[in-house]
Amino acid sequence: MNVGVLGGGQLGRMLALAGVPLGLSFRFLEPERPTPVDGVGKVVHARYDDVDAVQRFASGLDVVTCEFENVPDSTAQLLEGLLPVHPSAAALSMAQDRLVEKQVFESLAIPTPVYHSVESREGLEDAIGRVGVPAVLKTRRLGYDGRGQVVIDSPTGVDAAWGALYGSPLLLERFIDFSRELSIIGARGQDGEITFYPLVENEHRGGILYRTHAPALVSAELQALAERYLGGLLEKMEYVGVLALELFQRGDELLANEMAPRVHNSGHWTQDGARTSQFENHLRAVCGFSLGSCDPYGYAGMLNLIGQVPPTERVLGIPGARLHLYGKRPRPGRKLGHVNAVGKDPDDVVATLERVERLLTAG
Ligand SMILES: Nc1ncnc2c1ncn2[C@@H]1O[C@H](COP(=O)(O)OP(=O)(O)OP(=O)(O)O)[C@@H](O)[C@H]1O
Ligand SMILES: [Mg+2]
Repeated sequence: MNVGVLGGGQLGRMLALAGVPLGLSFRFLEPERPTPVDGVGKVVHARYDDVDAVQRFASGLDVVTCEFENVPDSTAQLLEGLLPVHPSAAALSMAQDRLVEKQVFESLAIPTPVYHSVESREGLEDAIGRVGVPAVLKTRRLGYDGRGQVVIDSPTGVDAAWGALYGSPLLLERFIDFSRELSIIGARGQDGEITFYPLVENEHRGGILYRTHAPALVSAELQALAERYLGGLLEKMEYVGVLALELFQRGDELLANEMAPRVHNSGHWTQDGARTSQFENHLRAVCGFSLGSCDPYGYAGMLNLIGQVPPTERVLGIPGARLHLYGKRPRPGRKLGHVNAVGKDPDDVVATLERVERLLTAG
């Protein structure tokens, strides 16, 4: 089958690396060059709103999916008129806007941080009155890796936050003093079959995912609760593919932060630590195959390589460290690759990742 992918970043690269062994071929639509997908498939370099290019991209494909969810609604809709698109244009649209997304959570009784939309400077004061401080002011669209958000923790911070973000539609949400950040990834097939990976624990630094620990050490009740929330979203959107849900844990409670309608950084451990990787399961779903087992082999961890990459030889010299590079030029704050580690004991997994970390801080 010929699979089209909207976006050509590292997620697209890893989709292709998982799909080629299944006999799939890949074509990407990506405005920038060079890209991490150079060498793993064909690339149509064009803007997402270039109608001619989108039609050229679609010609001869069997299905279209995305690795970047912020494509214009009109592009996803245009493609839907030409061939199957999974997840659907409607699902992408729901996940693109933090306000709509939170309304979807509410409609399914999935708890979220208290929030209020912000349309003006006065509106921000009103929202602070309703939400309280500390709070986080976020752009409704296009945020990633902590960009497009500012924490407000004092009255003097209000002007600074407004000055940094005004001009695009905004949302204010309560800052949650969470005990842990967790996420859950699930997949839904074309026949409605649903499967879930275990909850994982995520450590962020500077708003960017730094490490993932899988499975998270949680009760069966918390896993069941997370599956209920994500299952509800998968059903409501009649979703096909992999969907990720980021959660804040506060006691026995889970609050939904955001969902990602694609494979997710907190699922990269599945490449080496689960019977079927999130990338393969996404492709199985969008291509209409049956889903694969999400069972983990044991414990796994993932360390993101942000801004710098240690010498390959040094990483390969660490037993159990599995290196995944994206072929990107180094730049501060940029995700350049990750290292997975797998083991029977969570402490061994962390020890392996810490050996990699020491290569980084050693420069
Ligand atoms: N309401 C909140 N309370 C506490 N911390 C928050 C809140 N919102 C965001 N954060 C922190 O900032 C991180 C990034 O926020 P969020 O997931 O909303 O943005 P993002 O830029 O879309 O991130 P990404 O795309 O990398 O997941 C969160 O993982 C969390 O650590
Ligand atoms: Mg996030």
